[in-house]
Amino acid sequence: MSLESRIEKDIMEALRRTGRALGFSELCTLTGLNESSAASAVSSLSQKGLVSVSTRETKYARLTGEGEYHSINGLPERRLVKLVLGNGGIMPLEEARKAYPDESFFTIALGWLRRKRWGAIRAINGVPHIVVEKEPPEGVDETVVRTLASGPIEVSLLNTDAVKLLSGRGVVRVEDKVERLVSLTEAGRLIELKVAVTQLTPELLRTGEWRNVELKSYDVTADVEPLYPGRLHPLTEFIKEVKEIFTEMGFTEAKGPLVESCFWNFDALFTPQDHPAREMQDTFYLSHPSSTELADRQLVERVRRTHEDGWETGSTGWGGEWSEEAAKRLVLRTHTTCVSVRYLYEHREPPVKVFSVDRVFRNERVSFKSLAEFHQIEGIIMDKRVTLRDLKGVLTEFYKKLGLEKVQFWPSYFPYTEPSMNSVVYVPQAGRWLELCGMGVFRPEVTKPLGIEHPVLAWGGGLERLLMLRLGVTDIRVLYQNDLGWLRRVKLCP
Ligand code: PHE
Repeated sequence: MSLESRIEKDIMEALRRTGRALGFSELCTLTGLNESSAASAVSSLSQKGLVSVSTRETKYARLTGEGEYHSINGLPERRLVKLVLGNGGIMPLEEARKAYPDESFFTIALGWLRRKRWGAIRAINGVPHIVVEKEPPEGVDETVVRTLASGPIEVSLLNTDAVKLLSGRGVVRVEDKVERLVSLTEAGRLIELKVAVTQLTPELLRTGEWRNVELKSYDVTADVEPLYPGRLHPLTEFIKEVKEIFTEMGFTEAKGPLVESCFWNFDALFTPQDHPAREMQDTFYLSHPSSTELADRQLVERVRRTHEDGWETGSTGWGGEWSEEAAKRLVLRTHTTCVSVRYLYEHREPPVKVFSVDRVFRNERVSFKSLAEFHQIEGIIMDKRVTLRDLKGVLTEFYKKLGLEKVQFWPSYFPYTEPSMNSVVYVPQAGRWLELCGMGVFRPEVTKPLGIEHPVLAWGGGLERLLMLRLGVTDIRVLYQNDLGWLRRVKLCP
């Protein structure tokens, strides 16, 4: 238990110093605080059980309007005494009435003059005269009027008979005022008076005041206002994370064009020219320009031969006639595997460890599970003696870094790999296995024409579905809708 502020400390000290219950106004006078800050400090102290607040009814005396007037000019009888004394101590009554400065109070003045025995009425030659012998000292009633001139005061502090008398005369009014009384509790009497501070300031250090304060510990479990600072889009965040994982694992990033020739997107990957994936339904073909030149004639010839009869790859090829025109057509790349083959073509010496995380396009109906534009994660490893086992190992490690432990590898098929596999992850919420990415060892039909002598491990798959898994999002479109509410609330690490 500690004090929140200097104000609380001042109040506690005032209560200890006086050793009794204090009214609010008295408390304010003693501490120099204003009513409202004293009130809030007292309520916080009472919540802590250090003080208790009770109410007390107090009678206050204050001057009436008439009383104010008399406090300036003197009570009527005092004024009459002065008038008569100024006249030599004796004055005909009617003359005094005329000379009296305030006619309406003359009768009252005369009444009180006699009652207080400050003077007497005597008939001289049949004419009534006022006779005053000497100036009387200040009466208790006059003292009360003088005292109240500076403001209302508790009746108990004044001469109560005089107050009664004056209120009977309409000079003073007595009012009941309900006042709150603050007193120390047992705990408040015992506690060490130290102010709790949440921040150690240079001021505290310089003045040595730190010795007298209690450094408050933070309550890290306390609720706070939600804060929405600027942040990256979760997708961008995730792409950064995936790239970091690849980098940690010793990979470097490769980049390739979004508009690609069929040659690099399909043919160099030994995808037959009549493969269904090439059809309009799956692939966006460009209209302007619709095709490009293929620069490396020797490479083009090797790829043609491989497709037609297997060339020197030990394969029989797909048979039929390979069309260079078809290979020259431009498409929006349908996967990032073309980035990998292009990279291999330019880097034929082992070891190669590259990745790409980038955009790809497919002519698909937009739905909760597919978009026409999305991201793929792609990686390749080329080295003298790498095998499928290494690929499984690398991917297991990769997924583990993403927080996915339960991954399996199932046999699959791709035109460019042999053997081929799919990695699948178990999604408990859905109660089923989800395909993460395709992988395999590039066929000689892919590597030989490029001039690659060593095995190449390759894998690739969608990025969004991984992020959906992580965020618990079931509709892929959510990732692209830019719904501010969702973007603000979505957790970085669910
Ligand atoms: N390119 C494949 C896809 O888009 C994935 C893949 C990459 C498969 C590399 C095998 C090797 O699904």
